[in-house]
Amino acid sequence: MKTTASAPGKLFILGEHAAVYGYPCIVLAIDKKIHIEAEEIDYQSDIILTQGIKNTSFVEKVISLFGQEYDIKKKVRIKTDSDFSPKLGLGSSSAVTVATIKALSKLYKIPLTRTEIFKLGYKVVLEIQKVGSGADIASSVFGGTILYDKKGKVIKKIQNASLPMVVAYSGFKADTTKLIYSVNKKYKNRRNEIEKIFKNIAKLVWEGKKFIEKGDWKMIGKIMTENHLLLKDLGVSSLKLDSMVSVALEQGAWGAKLSGAGGGDCIIILVSEANREKVAKAIVKKGGQIL
Ligand code: MEV
Repeated sequence: MKTTASAPGKLFILGEHAAVYGYPCIVLAIDKKIHIEAEEIDYQSDIILTQGIKNTSFVEKVISLFGQEYDIKKKVRIKTDSDFSPKLGLGSSSAVTVATIKALSKLYKIPLTRTEIFKLGYKVVLEIQKVGSGADIASSVFGGTILYDKKGKVIKKIQNASLPMVVAYSGFKADTTKLIYSVNKKYKNRRNEIEKIFKNIAKLVWEGKKFIEKGDWKMIGKIMTENHLLLKDLGVSSLKLDSMVSVALEQGAWGAKLSGAGGGDCIIILVSEANREKVAKAIVKKGGQIL
């Protein structure tokens, strides 16, 4: 028997990095997914055929933890496929983790709740990366826009109209784990200062949630830009990301910020239909790529 499952990538709207320390964040599932095909096989070892993902480690870890948790010793063949490049920082590792758990749960007829999928997925991430908020996994499991707090103790859907957003790739792949560790080093050395930045980010998240629910794009944009400046203070932005954010604002965007770990990957821009084309052109001129 063959089973299939898929799970979406994500974008951080507000609150990245602070989320690793248990502060709130807002994450949005995108309409691009990772797809998995799973099949039981009579081999000595598992077969993993990857396409569109960085490496096999997340799939391997899911197979091993799923096997331990549900006492499964059989071997599987897993095939991956993706709607988006793993280079963009759109959460391909989390999406592949969640999709593989879903495919195995179908294959072995072990129905799992979304909370169970989240918990197992977060365990996979922590075993591989050692650090992480789990928000990417929650986004992939629950979809839509979520308010994620206290490392997954609170996961709430936010009811919102779809955000008028442009996503632009910086051309550089970020190393999420490295960036999380660099923030952690600062946290250890300058705890009060970094804690203050996290608290200010958390304030923006709570305000942002209200404005997202109201559909007040102007205020969300303002909050996004403020969040970008705090991430810059945290040292996770880059010249390229800053220049893309600046040019978007110059061209009339309501707001812009890096999304995710920083260092590279993508920025998100909140912009009206009227200014969209102008902003997109300016970003391309700066060497960014509109997704
Ligand atoms: C990475 O997409 C977002 C970070 O906040 C890490 C995490 O939440 O696990 C930097």
